[in-house]
Amino acid sequence: MHRGLLFDLDGVLVDTAKYHYLAWSKIAQELGLPFTLQDNERLKGVSRERSFEILLELGGRKMEAGKRAEYCARKNEYYLSCIRQMTRREILPGVCDFLQQARKKDYRIALGSASRNSRLILERLELLELFDAIVDGTAVHSAKPDPEVFLQGAKALGLAPGECIVFEDARAGIEAAHAGGMPAVGIGDKKDLPEADLCLPGLQGADLSEIERRLAEKRE
Ligand code: BG6
Ligand code: MG
Repeated sequence: MHRGLLFDLDGVLVDTAKYHYLAWSKIAQELGLPFTLQDNERLKGVSRERSFEILLELGGRKMEAGKRAEYCARKNEYYLSCIRQMTRREILPGVCDFLQQARKKDYRIALGSASRNSRLILERLELLELFDAIVDGTAVHSAKPDPEVFLQGAKALGLAPGECIVFEDARAGIEAAHAGGMPAVGIGDKKDLPEADLCLPGLQGADLSEIERRLAEKRE
């Protein structure tokens, strides 16, 4: 039995990938770079700066660091104009029930996200008060697959890494959880997240006792 749950944000609690895509598409258009919805898959779980490097790579372009920072800041302005309009309707199905279930069972809950906009998003979704700790891109130095964000999350909850379960939709996040010594529940398709200890299509209908049971089975 674990005592803490660590949640990634984008793709686990809320579908923000479409807004990242819209914002990066504008930048790609401004720079005349090719960028498709399929390319956007490569940006999931990846930091803002690394995302822009990938975008440049797709068009075979190079840019000096100062200019890259300007474009990253502009992308974030576009992204912010989308997320400032977000409402609770954009919380992914089953998330609120699952968080309530966790609270009732006395699990401690933390966010472990690469996004520097996490707090604003949780505020918009009115989910902030369900979290005991927020660890996001403003607090960490090394991006996933480095385990830093989840190790800090466990520490903020006052728990050992092995007492926590990570919920992640990106391969880099599953890798980060394992590197930190935590089991990882993949949110998505097993074929996209082969390293996950177990996979769920989403949090709708997810049951913590069942998750614990399946993770225990896997350990045996
Ligand atoms: C991750 C997203 O959660 O956060 C990435 O999956 C995003 O797509 C990264 O690039 C950084 O987000 P932000 O909001 O700080 O630009
Ligand atoms: Mg994610």
